[in-house]
Formats: sequence, structure tokens, C-alpha cells
Amino acid sequence: MTMADIGTAPTAPHWETLFQRLLAEMDGRTSPDWQADVAGLDPALYTDPARFGRERERLFRRLPLCLGPVDQLREPGSVMAREICGVPVLIARSREGHVKVFLNVCRHRGARLVNEEGEPCRRQSLICPYHGWTYRLDGTLAGLPRAEAFPAIEKHTLGLRELPSQVRHGMIWAVLDPTASAPDIAAFLGPLDRDLAAIDLGSHRLYRQHAIKRAANWKLIVEAFLEIYHLTRLHAGTIGPFFPDAVSVSDAVGPHIRFLAARERTVDIRGLPPESWSPQHHGTLVHFVMPGSLFIYHPDYISHLGLFPSAPDETLFVHSMLTPEVPSDEKTETHWARSFELIDGGVFNGEDLPTCEQIQRGLGSGANERLIVGRLEQNLRRFHASLDAALG
Ligand code: FES
Ligand SMILES: [Fe+2]
Repeated sequence: MTMADIGTAPTAPHWETLFQRLLAEMDGRTSPDWQADVAGLDPALYTDPARFGRERERLFRRLPLCLGPVDQLREPGSVMAREICGVPVLIARSREGHVKVFLNVCRHRGARLVNEEGEPCRRQSLICPYHGWTYRLDGTLAGLPRAEAFPAIEKHTLGLRELPSQVRHGMIWAVLDPTASAPDIAAFLGPLDRDLAAIDLGSHRLYRQHAIKRAANWKLIVEAFLEIYHLTRLHAGTIGPFFPDAVSVSDAVGPHIRFLAARERTVDIRGLPPESWSPQHHGTLVHFVMPGSLFIYHPDYISHLGLFPSAPDETLFVHSMLTPEVPSDEKTETHWARSFELIDGGVFNGEDLPTCEQIQRGLGSGANERLIVGRLEQNLRRFHASLDAALG
């Protein structure tokens, strides 16, 4: 693949309709969003510990979470530990290449097996640092020192607790509850499953990943990626100039959201056949997958954002930059390194996330009885309606 081909994903049939709606929106604001009344969001949604507890139990412990690309463990015979929403998780790729997700908790007295947070490590086996119980990468208990001290032990019942998981579209999806049944990710994604296939997410490779805890409620971060009212303003010095002012079309897709934002070059499609309309080149497609995943389709790479809250005001933000291939020459490497620096350092961590943290600190100030949502921010209403439905 050459630089010129990058990002020309095959067009899913409904993208044509989505682009037609986007062109109509560019010509005049005609979408139903323009009939909406100004709405308000209660600041307590982002600070109340009881609300957070319900979100953790009913969303983050029950729904499948996207734990990032399978490529995080490129080498067979490797593991990676990460604390996800307060749960110590261990992703393992066996020597045969199978990926499983376990609780990173020893079955003897509960010590953590792997401490290198977020770092892929090659391992033959997993040896608990406390008393040395040893597990194979498929989770089975291989042995324990001084076994005569445990006369009645049944080793086959003391493998690592596995979390139900599935690899789909090159991403690892898991449920944090070890007693849950295996997730059906295609059914969970619904119509978005076809989008991810059409954009060929599964053939992308992890180029770089950055994980960082930020002092903001997870919903403030989701919201920053669901509206582009701020794009030409907050991001005026970075990506703002590539976009017209806040032109987009969106749909709730089950509990998820599909969102297409116009770019400056969207107008070019008027002279092109619909088969060549690209949701990466001629617009910026965004998928929000409940509860805490966002896929952003940039012109020649994809950002997956995984949001994993550990407290009302603390969220682990994991950004994986996915490229169509591993860079094969210096020019491509330099190009993607610059893209990563701009988007991860400049835009996400330099502009969006600091703003979310500032909002979080301002929430308790009493300045706002409600946060105001206008017609350009209707995805926030879609998001909160979906949350209300999921939380019952
Ligand atoms: S807690 Fe792991 S061996 Fe004792
Ligand atoms: Fe932004």
C-alpha cells in the first residue's frame, strides 16, 4: 500500500446516505437536531458517588469493554497487565497465539501476578511473587512450592479466573464479570459491526499507544468527542483549520452513536461518484460504543480511545493509534510519528483532556445549576438518553 491509497476504505452502502445528509446540512441546517430545545445537564451527573457506583455496576461491569487492539500483544507467549475500572486484568497471548483475558489475581491468597502496568512482557509462565504459585499462559495452575502443605488441593480448579472475551475486528472485548456468559460482539455492536468491517478495522496494526489517568469524569471525556461545536475554537491552532464550523450528522445506533463530521474537503464529493466517498478522507467518521469506547477515523489512521473510570473524577484514557500497516520506511514512520504527536500530545492531551479536567474542577463551584446543551451538541442528549436507558 502506498501513502496515496491509505484510508480509502470501501464505502458501506449507508455511508452514501450519510454523506447526502451531510451535504444537505452544509447547504442549510435542516436536520431534526435544529428542532431541539436547549437542554440542561445536572452537574451532579459527573460528581455524585452513588451515580458513579451505578454506572460502574450496570455499565462497566456488565457490558463488553473494548480493551484495545489484539496487537498490543504482538508476540506469542506474552502478557499485559492493566487495571481496568479498578479491576486488575491480565491479557495473555499463548505460544499458540490464542488471546485470553484473566483477572490478574493469584488463586492462593490474591496477590497480583504481573505488576508491569500496560507493558507487554514475554513470559514462559506466570509466577506469583508472593509464594511462587505458577500458572501457564492458558491460565492453568502448573505448580506450587511445598505442595505437601496443601493435601486436599485440586489443581485443576485453581486456574486463573478468566473473563469472558472475544477478539473481533482486531480488538479485544471482555466483560469484567467472570461469571458472565461469553459476549456476542457482533450482536452487541449491531449495525456498527458492518461499519467496522467496511472500514477494515481488523487489518489495522497498532502503531503506538498512550495510557494516562486524567482527573475528569469519564462522561465529560466522551462528550468532548461527541460534538464538534468546539473544534474550530478549542483546536484553532491544531486540527481546527481542516474543518468547517460544526457541520455533522449523527444517529443513535442502539445504545451507540454514529457521527459523521464534515471536513473542508467534504465539498469535493459533489464531483465524485458515491463509491469513492470516503468517511476518512471526505469527512471524519466517529463511532461511540457504549459505555466507554470511541473510534475516530482520521484520513490515514484510526484512533481508538478506551475510557476506564476508577472514580467519579478519575478516568484511565488509553489511546491506541492504528495504522493500515506497520511503517516500512523512514518517511512513513516520520509521518505517523508526527501525526501521533499532533493528535495525542497536541489535541487530546494538550487541548481536550485539560479542558475536561478544568470542567471537573469547576463543577463544584456552584457557577452552573445546569450545563447548557444547544442544537450543535445534540449527541450529548443521545448519549444521556442511552445512559438513562441502560441504567434503568
Ligand atoms: S498469593 Fe500468590 S502464591 Fe500466595
Ligand atoms: Fe476536541
